[in-house]
Amino acid sequence: MRKTVFCATTALAIGSCQQAEQPLDAKDPIEVRVDSLLSQMTLEEKVGQLNMYNGTWDFTGPVPEQADAQEREDQIRSGGVSAMLNVLTPEAICAAQRMAVEESRLGIPMLFGYDVIHGYKTMMPIPLGQASSWDPTVAERANRVAAAEATSEGLSLAFGPMVDITPDARWGRIMEGAGEDPFLAARMAEGWVKGFQGTDLSERHSIAACAKHFAGYGFAEAGKEYNTTDMSDQTLLNVVLPPFRAAVDAGCAAIMNGFNDLNGVPVTANAYIQRTQLKEAWGFDGFVLSDFNSVPELVTHGYSPDMPEAGKAAFLAGSDMEMESRLYERHLLDQVKSGEVSEELIDDAVRRVLRIKFRLGLFENPYKYCEADGIEIMSESHLQEARELARESMVLLKNESATLPLQKEASIGVIGSLARSKDVPLGNWRAQAVENSAVSLLEGIRAAAGSKVEFAEGYRISSGRRSFIFDMEWADPSEKGFEEAIQVARRSDVVVMALGEDCYQTGEGRSQTDVGLKGDQLELFHAVRAVNPNVVVVLMNGRPLAIPDIQQHASAILESWHAGSQAGHAIADILFGDHNPSGKLPVSFPHHTGQEPLYYNHKKTGRPVTNDFDKGLVFWAHYSDAPVEALYPFGYGLSYSRFIYSDLEINDSILRSGADLEVRVRLTNDSKIAGQEVVQLYIRDPYGSLTRPVKELKAFQKIHLKAGESQLVSFRLSEEDLAYHWSRERFEAEPGRFELYIGGNSHEVLQTAFTFR
Ligand code: NOJ
Repeated sequence: MRKTVFCATTALAIGSCQQAEQPLDAKDPIEVRVDSLLSQMTLEEKVGQLNMYNGTWDFTGPVPEQADAQEREDQIRSGGVSAMLNVLTPEAICAAQRMAVEESRLGIPMLFGYDVIHGYKTMMPIPLGQASSWDPTVAERANRVAAAEATSEGLSLAFGPMVDITPDARWGRIMEGAGEDPFLAARMAEGWVKGFQGTDLSERHSIAACAKHFAGYGFAEAGKEYNTTDMSDQTLLNVVLPPFRAAVDAGCAAIMNGFNDLNGVPVTANAYIQRTQLKEAWGFDGFVLSDFNSVPELVTHGYSPDMPEAGKAAFLAGSDMEMESRLYERHLLDQVKSGEVSEELIDDAVRRVLRIKFRLGLFENPYKYCEADGIEIMSESHLQEARELARESMVLLKNESATLPLQKEASIGVIGSLARSKDVPLGNWRAQAVENSAVSLLEGIRAAAGSKVEFAEGYRISSGRRSFIFDMEWADPSEKGFEEAIQVARRSDVVVMALGEDCYQTGEGRSQTDVGLKGDQLELFHAVRAVNPNVVVVLMNGRPLAIPDIQQHASAILESWHAGSQAGHAIADILFGDHNPSGKLPVSFPHHTGQEPLYYNHKKTGRPVTNDFDKGLVFWAHYSDAPVEALYPFGYGLSYSRFIYSDLEINDSILRSGADLEVRVRLTNDSKIAGQEVVQLYIRDPYGSLTRPVKELKAFQKIHLKAGESQLVSFRLSEEDLAYHWSRERFEAEPGRFELYIGGNSHEVLQTAFTFR
């Protein structure tokens, strides 16, 4: 029997390895080893396992109270630190690990966490873009690359995926998630977790995933960052929680809570979601991490009277590990001694943390992430993956008179400062991306089209500060650069105009009251169109935009999002027809910001608009100055192929409890070009004990068809697909009639119906 050994197999393990007094046997099941280790820990050491400490090399939240380096190191040596975040070099990570493993009494290895959201150095499209692929393997592939690069540099815990559903384009963090629909977000969540964790957490390039922010944060009132969330159990259980459940079922190692007050109880102190739902009902056995400073903020919320009470409230509610704020470290010990907190609860939290460390294989080899691994960061193959995934993430919104694909021989005027940016496509939450390392749209077009390409900047979004930490400094709209752009447009066969947002307009703390185009972009668009009506708009943005003018007047529109390191090449691949787009929107685009929150799966109301006659009347659910519908609905996206849906059939008019219903539809590629189409299946329960949404996505498939090919696409629906939470206790399908819709987006659908008994 090998004696255990927190530093047995590593080349870097030097000096005296500390060992548990009762050695752990690597052949024992993890639970046995966890218990054995726990039994040897002092209360102080246990509390240390609940402490995540900021490396202070980087700040991703309000600057914490500083501890000097010596204090920090002493604390690690005393076994008082379980994990660190934002330790940014492999050398620093490995040095800190050595301190914990070789100098603390029990030598328990630490976790090193970081915000790896859509890549580490090779940047993938932002998550909202990845979700536009409607392909969980895109999520998985993106995070496989991110995991390889992040673990290669010593990291063991990724603060992702973010699976917050949000119906509100004003909220800046919409870029970080999968959009407005729980079903699509759940499928993407599974892909993201698999990508990070691989098939076995103990592998060299698996990184522990931490799904966030549990829960409801994306429903911040008025889209204002960190704002209160107030929602029914129905919304919480049926809309907000399913992607978290999917992440947990996919084996997600950790869950991070959030900053929001949820129905009067800030989520960090919310026992119902953390204990009753996550840990008890779902059987989650990993650990819950608080968000940066969210524990002390319980006092600011007005939920806890002081810091010790805040720490206690968070811990009792199920927040196992505290990120940075150190209230557990300061007060838990006394609270156990005084009987306010039971040691059993401490043990439960510590077990959760140790379990993940064991699963990661850190007890066999605490330096596994420090060892040479042959991974080349930003290698050709990683960049190629970034290019392919970016192409899958783009959505063709308009293509009048087959403007696209463009001829490579045409003279092309590229207009807009976003087109030249090598930085904006990297997106926000960009981990260790190298500034200005993306392929710009201009570079991509030049590489694909040859020499007849002219560029004019035309507008600027910012002419000052743009950074992760501070608000944008907007450009002065009086500094117009229109003249050169107009001349370029005049001389060109076709104009490719980049419009949208700087990447620092989205992400944490980037809420906006207006989701239109900032600055003089729209004015320039009209000026350019006046001299050359052949304008292809490439959107670069991290949220749905209100762009009715562009929708009406552009010849073609390609939504590219912030597409990552290879953005320019990927966009050019689509513009010139080397790749046929197949993305579909995971969010509804509004005509006007005032429509937000806007989402397809809304309730019907007692006064929906049902026919044109009603449109003249005031007494229906509408706006008198803007449409009620989306500008582009959820699920929308075109292709260079033309797809036709026909022959929708179900094998029975009754779906019986315990049985399946087979649904078939014919999909035909009525064009001369091969392409992919996302076939979407929605249901509606027209009458229920609780009112139900007008449509709910229940299944989708991405189908590849050759030119002229036709295929029957089939789905199986079961009782579970019809079920919903009527209450906290009841998750059931209600007998009765259901409508079923199939189509290429949530709006244009074929329809049938069946009865559930
Ligand atoms: C705050 C953010 O809300 C969270 O998503 C992030 O992981 C942490 N800061 C750590 O950077």
